[in-house]
Amino acid sequence: MTGTPSVVATDTAVRLEAVTKTFGTGDAAVHALRGIDLEIGEGQLAVVLGPSGSGKTTLCNIIGGIEAVTSGNVTVGGESIGGRKPADLSDFRRAHVGFVFQFFNLIPTLTARENIEIIVELTGRGSKADVPGLLESVGLADKADSFPSQLSGGQQQRVALARALATDPAIVLADEPTGALDLDTGRQILALLQDLRDRGRTVVVITHNTSVARIADRVITVVDGRIESVDDTTSPANVADVTW
Ligand SMILES: Nc1ncnc2c1ncn2[C@@H]1O[C@H](COP(=O)(O)OP(=O)(O)OP(=O)(O)O)[C@@H](O)[C@H]1O
Ligand SMILES: [Mg+2]
Repeated sequence: MTGTPSVVATDTAVRLEAVTKTFGTGDAAVHALRGIDLEIGEGQLAVVLGPSGSGKTTLCNIIGGIEAVTSGNVTVGGESIGGRKPADLSDFRRAHVGFVFQFFNLIPTLTARENIEIIVELTGRGSKADVPGLLESVGLADKADSFPSQLSGGQQQRVALARALATDPAIVLADEPTGALDLDTGRQILALLQDLRDRGRTVVVITHNTSVARIADRVITVVDGRIESVDDTTSPANVADVTW
């Protein structure tokens, strides 16, 4: 094959070197990550694929500074975080990372608007004045005053995405963002994530759905705590081609 790949990582947003993660000790030890070397470029949309229990969430939590490594180096957004405890990483998380979890994690007693405003308040980043615009960008301008229980799963997931973006993070980590959604609403979320990539953010999407991987610039397959393959795509698929 000839030609220049369209995806040229200008800078490295995420770098993991020889990362291991072991939960527990002795006979109860679980080796979740067994030596991960990985790079994700700034402005790339990376999909992490792999079977259940292969270490995807652990990897995501390490990149996001929620979980400490057992050994190895981690650099995210130019900051070396590998040796630091999660408790010491709250400033790092506030400055760099937005999380979208599988089960939304919205606060049930707060409206959609308030669920986003509270993150602005807690982190001291972003502005409450931007919240209506964020809700509009995920197609929920008319649901600002609805509580999570009054929203569909896809709408809740979009609130969660708007919330992740409220602090304008350089890196967005989405763990199974479509896992609880039907195809149409899942595609809406993927389109929003692709949109973010188009606006220069680094996006890491974890899934066990191989079809979702078609929208990625880089597909990282994890099996049994190790990287099995890293595949770069020159022309990622449109979300309309994704199915499950
Ligand atoms: N806090 C923990 N304590 C002990 N073991 C854990 C912990 N978190 C994860 N593990 C173990 O580490 C391994 C990797 O788990 P992880 O959650 O990263 O997998 P995953 O690829 O995200 O799976 P899934 O697709 O089911 O979400 C599993 O064997 C899991 O049981
Ligand atoms: Mg997981």
